[in-house]
Amino acid sequence: MKNVVWRLKTIFLCKNVLEKEGALFLNFSCSSRARGGPRWAHIGLKNYEIDELISAKSIAARVESLAKEITSFFSDTEKLIVVGLLRGSFVFIADLARELDLPLEIDFLEASSYGNNMKSSREVRILKDLRGEISGRDVLVVEDIVDTGYTLHHVLGLLKSKKPKRIEACALLDKPSRREINIKSRWVGFEIPDEFVVGYGIDYAQRNRNLSHIGKVRFK
Ligand code: IMP
Ligand code: MG
Repeated sequence: MKNVVWRLKTIFLCKNVLEKEGALFLNFSCSSRARGGPRWAHIGLKNYEIDELISAKSIAARVESLAKEITSFFSDTEKLIVVGLLRGSFVFIADLARELDLPLEIDFLEASSYGNNMKSSREVRILKDLRGEISGRDVLVVEDIVDTGYTLHHVLGLLKSKKPKRIEACALLDKPSRREINIKSRWVGFEIPDEFVVGYGIDYAQRNRNLSHIGKVRFK
């Protein structure tokens, strides 16, 4: 009996410590759980739900119209280098590239400003550089979201220094109310309010990229 009481005390003590440190595994009851992520949230992640903001159907229609505009803008190109910013743009670039009626090459660049956080660090680091040359070429930079604007500003500055013939950007989402630096993407899929979003390639701490729609994160 004494042994059982001692064991129970130990279990309660551990539970209290874990809860205090916020390290207890939380039940992950996201409404899009089946496709958006595993059943259990990661250590330290708060419990959240995802509310649909933009449907897969609306995204597909918008991607098609963006591609038409981009195709006509670059209609005289010899070859368009489509540069996807990893990792958030990987779904968008895959859909957009297949709608572009142009000779093109795909390349990727990885820039990081968020890490696993929900706020930009404003310090942009290049984690993976382009493989190909862009000097004298037509370039389209494909970004998932323009938020503070630091990432796109930094990347466009870097790529412009390589002397491309023309360089433009296309962002799936834009949060104009969050802008801290004066930068504009020539093409924007959707302007959205100041919400933290996931899905269609976009993550929250590496989760929910595989949702086919875009949803906003709501903490419970
Ligand atoms: P910026 O440098 O502040 O414009 O941030 C741009 C990058 O931050 C984007 O490429 C995204 O990867 C990330 N980001 C901005 N807003 C969100 C969001 O709502 N959800 C997930 N990632 C975001
Ligand atoms: Mg990102």
